[in-house]
Amino acid sequence: METNHRSVLAPTPPMGWNSWNGFGPGIDEAIVRRVAETLVDNGMRDLGYRYVVIDDGWQAGERDGAGRLVADPQKFPSGMKAIGDFLHERGLLFGIYSGPGPKTCLGRPGSYGHERADVEQFVSWGVDFLKYDECSAIDFGEEKVVELYRLMGRLLRESGRPIVLSISTVDRHRPWLWAAEAGAQMWRTTRDILDYWREGPEDEKHGIDSIGFEQQEGLEKYAGPGRWNDPDMLVVGLHGRGFIAGEGCTDTEYRTHMTLWCMLAAPLMLGADPAALEPADLEILTNPEVIAIDQDPLGRQGRRIRRHGAVEVWCRELADGGWAAGFFNRGPRDATVDFAWKDLGFRGGPFRVRDLWARREIPEASEGWSGSVESHGAVLLRLRPAGADAGDQ
Ligand code: GLA
Repeated sequence: METNHRSVLAPTPPMGWNSWNGFGPGIDEAIVRRVAETLVDNGMRDLGYRYVVIDDGWQAGERDGAGRLVADPQKFPSGMKAIGDFLHERGLLFGIYSGPGPKTCLGRPGSYGHERADVEQFVSWGVDFLKYDECSAIDFGEEKVVELYRLMGRLLRESGRPIVLSISTVDRHRPWLWAAEAGAQMWRTTRDILDYWREGPEDEKHGIDSIGFEQQEGLEKYAGPGRWNDPDMLVVGLHGRGFIAGEGCTDTEYRTHMTLWCMLAAPLMLGADPAALEPADLEILTNPEVIAIDQDPLGRQGRRIRRHGAVEVWCRELADGGWAAGFFNRGPRDATVDFAWKDLGFRGGPFRVRDLWARREIPEASEGWSGSVESHGAVLLRLRPAGADAGDQ
């Protein structure tokens, strides 16, 4: 694996908020300021949700007379430098959106042919994260698209500012094969997630279940510190009220979504308006022990190790020599499971086992776990080698 001589950018999966799922093209400066203040007030910033990413729709329809990208003056009257300052003053990081094509997906100016000037512009605004979305570049064909991503990776690296490059491209380009080498710290592995558990109305495989359980298999070997697969943003808390389609999910389903994304070492980018979260959403998003699985410094992405009908067992190796074990029930009825750790291949037991959602130790699980997993639910256990130091995280 390639590592920089500088310290690795995004040593653990980036966390934060992105405007698209909740607001789409309606994003404006007042929303961004409110979101930022809420992330500080509700404790999410201190748990790691630090990138505030303004997705498509921030730009004016045209570049200015000097060819520079400019913010839509109606929606961002203070300009982007002021937004960057506002975020930085609050201990947050500033993310912005552009693309390698002539136009973004919303038809705003893309960075094609203006890459160097745009990077200079982003640096002058204090940008810390760039989501770079293929959109109209798709017409160029794969080879050219990869070359354009590589160009942006190089310009960001040379800019002297640590700016995370988040690649959003179509899954058939298999970005996991080239994105890290092109300079990205994260890359989308799927099409856009929608606010559904399973398929949407046109039977498209855009729900939590198909994206999370089916479309990430085999990608674990491409992830590690500074290089993350991105199965798209969290839909937790949207409840069918976001900009993206979907009827919303149950609290159980949103909790399963968070559990799986943490097992996948996925970036945790909230899409919902943090000011509109319900108590159950906040509980899902702010459990520090669950977040610690996502952010585990070893950076090993989890994988499925068992499948029994609708029940799946996923595991993730952790930096302390222990494991995270996730029990998932994708079926319509509650299920009972019974597994011995050694049968699942966890060597080094007996373990000290903790249920991370219930936040309690389960001494009776030192050799294995039996219990019930509700329909569409998940149980997340942390296994520590019995000899390791005590502690919650
Ligand atoms: C694409 C991306 C989304 C969002 C929109 C914005 O669909 O996959 O995440 O950025 O474009 O237009």
